[in-house]
Amino acid sequence: MLNYMVHKLTKNNLRTTLIFAQRHRPYFKPKMADFNLRWAFNIKTWTPTYDEILSATSYIQPEEKERLDRFVYQDDVKSSLIGRLMMRKFVHISTGIPYKEVAFARDERGKPYLIGTGDIPVNFNVSHQGDYSVLAGHKDRNIGIDVMKIEPPVNKNVPEFFRLMTRQFSTHEWRTIKDYPTEKEQLKCFYRHWCLKEAYVKNIGVGLTIALDKITFVINTFDMSIGNIVTDTQLYVNDVLKRDWKIEETLLDDKHGVAVAIQVPRDTTIEPVSFSYLNFEELVKEAQALHPPDTNFANRFLKKQMKPF
Ligand SMILES: CC(C)(COP(=O)(O)OP(=O)(O)OC[C@H]1O[C@@H](n2cnc3c(N)ncnc32)[C@H](O)[C@@H]1OP(=O)(O)O)[C@@H](O)C(=O)NCCC(=O)NCCS
Repeated sequence: MLNYMVHKLTKNNLRTTLIFAQRHRPYFKPKMADFNLRWAFNIKTWTPTYDEILSATSYIQPEEKERLDRFVYQDDVKSSLIGRLMMRKFVHISTGIPYKEVAFARDERGKPYLIGTGDIPVNFNVSHQGDYSVLAGHKDRNIGIDVMKIEPPVNKNVPEFFRLMTRQFSTHEWRTIKDYPTEKEQLKCFYRHWCLKEAYVKNIGVGLTIALDKITFVINTFDMSIGNIVTDTQLYVNDVLKRDWKIEETLLDDKHGVAVAIQVPRDTTIEPVSFSYLNFEELVKEAQALHPPDTNFANRFLKKQMKPF
């Protein structure tokens, strides 16, 4: 998305509270911990076999399979597919809705939501970039997540890249970024801010359609480390501190940062949640086929290239 922004600096809302049919309520009582989860899947460590592609794509809705079929690169198919499988698993295990009955639609901004009516709320959001697909899910709080690979900009030097992004950050944020002495550190701080902004706009569902320079993140803990969760970053919107927003940030590895944004009632405490790293077997443990395997899809997938960058 960042690359897209660099080329088209305009884009797009919503918020999704996901509600299920009352009839689904009694299937089983999930553990409370299941209601506030963070998952990460390293797609670079998964080289799917033909059979895995056949089965994995039979677990997702046909229109989503068709969407994946149109992607040029294998990497994009894999990361989006893993995101869809994470959503299905999360909703299934946190609500007890039978796997085959979990169904999603997308709103006008592209945000997936569960189809159904009733009063069981569940919220989730996925992100995929670089080597990872990630999910954040919560029982009843809107949630947004973004993962970002920390890497040099494609075909641009850092000053030019920053110049293109000038309007996307507030004065305070640019000061924080440019306070770092080296371009490498500045880029790292830039990506951290970008990740925070995306997690926020994905929570409220608007995507990158709002004035991003009106959203300011104030970082208080500058050093991040793998697995350690930073929770004291503050959000200001139009210069007003939003005390009801909780931000969690961590590094998945030395090249990938992730941010989660949750809105909670004022003065409520919410425990930060560590990421669990799933593999393919764990991801599809509960999965059930929604439709027969599509050998044409699998054959086309195997012919797709990996991304050259
Ligand atoms: C939401 C948005 C910021 C995500 O950007 P990104 O960095 O490329 O994507 P990420 O990897 O972090 O997240 C992608 C996932 O977020 C979810 N998502 C899509 N749109 C979303 C939205 N508006 N809000 C929250 N989540 C969204 C999807 O699950 C998507 O994965 P999938 O398409 O493979 O299922 C960007 O797509 C955006 O600005 N969308 C709004 C565009 C819009 O309004 N379009 C209207 C005309 S279609």
